[in-house]
Amino acid sequence: MKQTETASDVERLLEKLGRFPGAWAQPFLIVVSGLPGTGKSYFCRRLARKLVAVILESDHLRRTLFPSPGYSAAESARLFRASHLLIERLLRHGIPVIFDATNLSQYYREKLYRIAERLDIKPVLVRVEAPPELVYQRLKERQGDPETNSDADWAVYQQMKPRVQRIRHRHYVVDTSRDITPVIDKIIREISR
Ligand SMILES: Nc1ncnc2c1ncn2[C@@H]1O[C@H](COP(=O)(O)OP(=O)(O)OP(=O)(O)O)[C@@H](O)[C@H]1O
Ligand SMILES: [Mg+2]
Repeated sequence: MKQTETASDVERLLEKLGRFPGAWAQPFLIVVSGLPGTGKSYFCRRLARKLVAVILESDHLRRTLFPSPGYSAAESARLFRASHLLIERLLRHGIPVIFDATNLSQYYREKLYRIAERLDIKPVLVRVEAPPELVYQRLKERQGDPETNSDADWAVYQQMKPRVQRIRHRHYVVDTSRDITPVIDKIIREISR
């Protein structure tokens, strides 16, 4: 039952995504992780200006599947099941993916490592962070911004803070209160190798 549901969710997401960039013999997978307002989406957009890839933004995918999202655990589980399957499908077709989600839990990140392992891809993980006072300010200013797909505010940031689980594998760290260009350049170098 769940399998049928996930398959039809993936079809809906694919339909919404529209056209894809060209396929690569060796596509890459970039995964960001960080609390709301730390600048993940901003970072992914900057990265995608230099690297051709599909950005899969969890909030955008969530609205496709759930037009009035409730953010329950069951909703998120269904969203991530479909997102992960979609990521694997795209990578299998040679399409590079940037996965823009909080990805705070080790449990969900493990699923991404497994996908990469199955496809013999080395995933690039990036922990995105910013000082809380800056996040507070940014989230306040972001409210009502048509550029964002996220509803998260300072209350959501505080709720999620205890859920951060340390990334055990090798990863990049980007502090978005500073210039993000050096990390972007490093990632591009790693991918182009
Ligand atoms: N490096 C930066 N320089 C300037 N502004 C930034 C930077 N990073 C993020 N911002 C701004 O801060 C706000 C929050 O950033 P963003 O929406 O990228 O956060 P997020 O981590 O994707 O949050 P969410 O988890 O809620 O989606 C946005 O208005 C964005 O334009
Ligand atoms: Mg975002």
